[in-house]
Amino acid sequence: MARVAIVTGGTRGIGEAISLALHGAGMTVVATYAGDVERAKAFTDRTGIVAYRWDVGDYHACQDGCALVESEVGPIDVVVNNAGITRDGTILKMTHEDWDEVMRVNLGGCFNMAKATFPGMRARKWGRIVNIGSINGQAGQYGQVNYAAAKSGIHGFTKALAQEGARLGVTVNAIAPGYVDTDMVAAVPGDVLEKIVARIPVGRLGQAAEIARGVTFLCSEEAGFVTGSTLSINGGQHMY
Ligand code: CAA
Repeated sequence: MARVAIVTGGTRGIGEAISLALHGAGMTVVATYAGDVERAKAFTDRTGIVAYRWDVGDYHACQDGCALVESEVGPIDVVVNNAGITRDGTILKMTHEDWDEVMRVNLGGCFNMAKATFPGMRARKWGRIVNIGSINGQAGQYGQVNYAAAKSGIHGFTKALAQEGARLGVTVNAIAPGYVDTDMVAAVPGDVLEKIVARIPVGRLGQAAEIARGVTFLCSEEAGFVTGSTLSINGGQHMY
């Protein structure tokens, strides 16, 4: 039986590339999306990958959504916590809502999805959870106290949950992407982005497929000894 993988925010950007890569690796893939129905429908028409709509920042929506996926598709073996948003601005301009919303979706989403799926993985003694962190969670970024805190939290969350899953066949890892050619990065003002790209040793933005390749490895059968790790895929922009 093919492994069942769920990719949050899996119909666009890095998430779309991850959905396609896991599908290409022989998994039965389910993508979730938050709101863009037209785009999700076009994704399913194009790829054949089914998409479910719910808000990963909503605990009960994750419980109900994952239960529905399990009844319609099968037990969830692999979770890729990719869904994320930005609400950039210096702290002087950032509102309390900007802070809360980024923490709720980016970090809360990882907790909510793990609560819904970790018990099943544990009972079946096999699972893969990959959390998409960020270079900006490792290094910080001007104008992103909310996003950097949430992504940094994801890296801590990963190492803690990895310890809980290790003896049960459930690995938990993170990927820390750098600046990748997606809508999210395209929203950064042009002059700011130019300066950022000038600091990337490889000399260009990353491609979503380059992040997906790392995710596919971490989700593979052969990666059972890799847990609690963070794989940085950032063109050399931040090394440690
Ligand atoms: N270091 C020092 N100073 C900086 C700076 C930096 N990196 N960036 C801007 N400044 C300065 C500005 O020049 C400006 O100075 P003056 O007031 O003297 O002119 C001052 O800071 C304040 O600028 P603004 O009033 O324009 O600040 P703002 O509150 O409107 O915020 C910003 C601007 C939203 C932070 C904007 O600079 C920006 O979008 N920066 C990029 C943020 C970024 O990298 N986001 C990543 C999105 S993609 C992503 O997150 C994916 C991933 O995981 C990598």
